[in-house]
Amino acid sequence: MARETWATRVGFILAAVGSAVGLGNIWRFPWVTAENGGSAFLAMYLSIVFLVGVPGLLAMFVVGRRAKRNPVGALRELSGSDRWGFAGGFLVFSSLVLISFYSVVGGWILRYLGESLLGVLTGSVPYFADPGASFGAASAGFDAVAFHLVFLTLTAFVVVAGIRRGIEVATKWMMPAIFALLVGLAAWASTQSGAAEAYAFYLRFDTSVIRENFFGLLGPAAGQALFTLSLGVGTMITYASYLDEDRSLPFDGASIAVLNTVVGVLAGLVVFPLLFSLGIEPGETGTGAGALFVGLAGAFAQIPGGAVVATAFFAVVALAALSSAISILEISVSFLVDEYDLSRRRAATTVGGFVAVTGAVCALNTAVFGFVAGTLVDILLTLGLAVCLVFVGWVMGRDALVEFRKGAGPVGRAVSTPWLFAVGVLLPTFLVFTLLTTFNVDAE
Ligand code: PHE
Ligand code: NA
Repeated sequence: MARETWATRVGFILAAVGSAVGLGNIWRFPWVTAENGGSAFLAMYLSIVFLVGVPGLLAMFVVGRRAKRNPVGALRELSGSDRWGFAGGFLVFSSLVLISFYSVVGGWILRYLGESLLGVLTGSVPYFADPGASFGAASAGFDAVAFHLVFLTLTAFVVVAGIRRGIEVATKWMMPAIFALLVGLAAWASTQSGAAEAYAFYLRFDTSVIRENFFGLLGPAAGQALFTLSLGVGTMITYASYLDEDRSLPFDGASIAVLNTVVGVLAGLVVFPLLFSLGIEPGETGTGAGALFVGLAGAFAQIPGGAVVATAFFAVVALAALSSAISILEISVSFLVDEYDLSRRRAATTVGGFVAVTGAVCALNTAVFGFVAGTLVDILLTLGLAVCLVFVGWVMGRDALVEFRKGAGPVGRAVSTPWLFAVGVLLPTFLVFTLLTTFNVDAE
């Protein structure tokens, strides 16, 4: 059977934006920004996104579009060596680690969405009574496993339906829905009493944190930039492998990075006014999952019409998480389909069965969850991206330049040579450096 392709260019861009926009934008981005100097950190982060993230993204596109295969087949075929196939296998492995924890968090979100919706219908939201205790219950034991399985099943359904009829159709309505809901929520949040104070906190231009701790911030900023652009596990290689026409990759890459950043900024414009309007100290309930599920849940419980706002908010988070999970599952599915000739259905059930178990382990064991979500994923993504960049810079070399230039405009062609130098030399060096600073910070 002929390999599928995207029906439209917009379809590809939206699918890639769907992958990029996820938990990283909504629960991590606003907090990292607010804690590290507001818009001053934003400037630093944007520099990293455009100097490291976008070139990296383009490197993944070049691999995928040239090989038209999954990461394993792509690296093997483009190099003519099985050894690079193993490097691709490392990416597929990392994608399974990533989806194992991502699906668990996706499950928590579905539960909050369900309970909020129930509240709209019945007038009483279960988690409003005691947000702290509710989060404890939602994120442990049988319930956590059950909702993880629901989330994983939804993800698999879209993947089984294929590139055009599944992923492209789904993300084509999910992305506009996310934007519309977030803009609506941000507009509503701006009418809340603490909004001015919240903006001042979130977007103040404070360079002191950066000046005092530049190297300490580089690691988190780079980690966030890679994670948010879905780099380092082979998602973008896989999505680009379904491109059939040679249109400008730099244009697509830049559009994806811009849209992804807009969602992150918008998320902060929703989250902080909500917390400030109720006098909830930002950070009081933690800055990660706790902030989202305990802090915001507490805020929704106190505002008039809270159930409706909560439903809209958790719908955004659920759509964002689902479109990212789809892109993670597609990696191993495309691997099994390309290399072992499985049907999409067989491939998705095989991977789904495996992740059902590994995800359940994450759901039940907080130590495993913490290690995977907090440390392992960061390391795997950084290493995975570094390996791919070295591949593009040193193994593909001229071929990469040729592929990069196809369909690119004059600007794209002009930056192609510096791009290859950055990809082969500067970026891998930078990634190894940030990995070392991360370990250094951990050791202190
Ligand atoms: N970009 C996604 C997010 O921000 C996470 C992700 C990483 C998705 C790697 C796919 C691959 O949540
Ligand atoms: Na993202």
